[in-house]
Amino acid sequence: MKLGVCYYPEHWPQEWWADDARGMAEMGLSWVRIGEFAWSRIEPEPGRFDWAWLDEAVKTLGDAGLSIVMGTPTATPPKWLVDAHPDILGWDREGRPRRFGSRRHYCFSSETYRAECARIVEALASRYGQNPAVGAWQTDNEFGCHDTTLSYSPNAAKRFRTWLGQRYQSIDALNRAWGTVFWSEEFRDFDEIDPPNLTVTEANPTHRLDYQRFASDEVASFNRVQTEIIRRLSPGRDITHNFMAFHPSFDHFAVGADLDFVSWDSYPLGNLESSWFSDAETLRYLRQGHPDVQAFNHDLYRAAGRGRWWVMEQQPGPVNWARYNPSPLPGMVRAWTWEAFAHGAETVSYFRWRQATFAQEQMHTGLTRSDREVDIGGREARIVASELAVLGPLGPCRKAPVALVFDYEAMWHLRIQPQGAGFAWIVLAHEMYAALRRMGLDIDVLPKDADFTGYKVIVCPSLPMIDEAVIERLAASGATVLFGPRTGSRTRDGRTPDDLPPGPLQARLPFKVTRVSSLRPGAEPSVVLGEETLPGRLWRETLETALEPLATFEDGGAAWVGKDGWSYLATWPQAALMDAIMRRVVRATGLFVARLEDGVRMRTRDGVAFAFNYAAEPRATPAPVGATFLLGDAELPPAGVAAWRLE
Ligand code: GAL
Repeated sequence: MKLGVCYYPEHWPQEWWADDARGMAEMGLSWVRIGEFAWSRIEPEPGRFDWAWLDEAVKTLGDAGLSIVMGTPTATPPKWLVDAHPDILGWDREGRPRRFGSRRHYCFSSETYRAECARIVEALASRYGQNPAVGAWQTDNEFGCHDTTLSYSPNAAKRFRTWLGQRYQSIDALNRAWGTVFWSEEFRDFDEIDPPNLTVTEANPTHRLDYQRFASDEVASFNRVQTEIIRRLSPGRDITHNFMAFHPSFDHFAVGADLDFVSWDSYPLGNLESSWFSDAETLRYLRQGHPDVQAFNHDLYRAAGRGRWWVMEQQPGPVNWARYNPSPLPGMVRAWTWEAFAHGAETVSYFRWRQATFAQEQMHTGLTRSDREVDIGGREARIVASELAVLGPLGPCRKAPVALVFDYEAMWHLRIQPQGAGFAWIVLAHEMYAALRRMGLDIDVLPKDADFTGYKVIVCPSLPMIDEAVIERLAASGATVLFGPRTGSRTRDGRTPDDLPPGPLQARLPFKVTRVSSLRPGAEPSVVLGEETLPGRLWRETLETALEPLATFEDGGAAWVGKDGWSYLATWPQAALMDAIMRRVVRATGLFVARLEDGVRMRTRDGVAFAFNYAAEPRATPAPVGATFLLGDAELPPAGVAAWRLE
């Protein structure tokens, strides 16, 4: 368990570098990421490389005992490159090329740009691939950030047609799959097909879904151009990429498959301000971040990294980019760091070493201030470093008892056809995840092609395109399975199953969805569960079934049905109903359900239990009487962390 930081030597006078490096080592940091936006300094003019400064930076950092994560600079193609090859630019939904002047202005489908990336990565990896100070590589920076995955450029259109040809083989098969007879949209040839933007009203949903699938594949193959070069030239070094919180625009499992470990950029306060949470919830966690968002992303990226993951950029104080940018509660930077370690992080690296005095991110704090003094975040990082030294190393996370199936295609489909305002897969998944976490459970996130054996409970928030193979693997696991609404509501081609939803799931759960209603706020359905009547929200399905319902709507219609340990929700439960349902599901398997105080969360790693307090008031630590604490004690102050060894 190590700490690190992101550093931009090119932003500071060279005379400061040695001091900075010493300061990092003294703070207890082991890793430093550099280089990811430095193309214009590495290659100021076409073909003229200036290595002197980077050689010096690498040497200075290495001499201080730091290991370097070398970033490839491909998120920021320089001006001369854009001017020489304007076809590398991405095009927005309105069909306009993006302009030079910020970052991520390239199109994943530009073959010119792929060749340019190969060239710069080859140059960089040839120079530093065997350098002992370089311990790892990061490809590019935050794929998809600033809405850049889907590009509507001529390059993208061309490669989309090829992609469609490979997927469908014949234009008749595509016409059938998409249902293009609707509105006279039939195509005679793949060459007639454009990206699905600028249409008068909504484009064909399977056209859009395929464009999203195509764009996702483009990200993976773009990344692979770089990983193949780095593997050849820098043997023995890990390759990663820094993902973002819950970013939906491409399949992170697919990109993760080409990486040695996955990392993600954790900005708890920025994310809270930029997410779907109500004003009340945002105010409650304003300076702590939502108690379940970091955890869910940690679990997601642990899965995408096949167990190996880092936080590459940890928020160190106020950021600059959310609507409002408050200062974290004292102690929170430390608590976020420990929460990541509790979820199995190998390294937590902060963004950034020093607050900038120029350009876009001047208002973004660092571990140190722009007057070169250590800032609050730096002091908290120092505390974590000393605690790590006392705690000693921990092994990876063990398999959790509960799993949640995370599916990007489900997310895409429900974005394309939400049917009710606010029907977002990630919100539903997060609410299910949060209900499980409020019970003190460790949760593994899994892709739908995972091996499901060994789990007691598997939650599928919604799997619209579930197929027989997934159903069989779920059945083989022997787990109790809970499916959310709209599972089985589409075929792989985005069509409604001929025998109605839930399609192939009917073989195990005999019911049909005969009608769906989406309901605005104020018209929420009520659900009767045992003695209680609790609210659902937004969604109500009408089920035709002979099964005895586990819960009903107030008019007696089935709201939750189940058979042999598998069950299905015909609504979207609000928090109290979600808690009640999850508790029943989990308790039926014999798993222990903790009663955590409001704002308290837990996670175990390698036989050590951790507890965190996200509330603004003190709480009792949920540790057994007589526990020997490795961190903290029986009282959890706000932003408090406690850890104890499990028997
Ligand atoms: C991240 C990005 C960094 C920096 C940071 C500011 O999204 O990777 O380069 O912009 O945000 O919080």
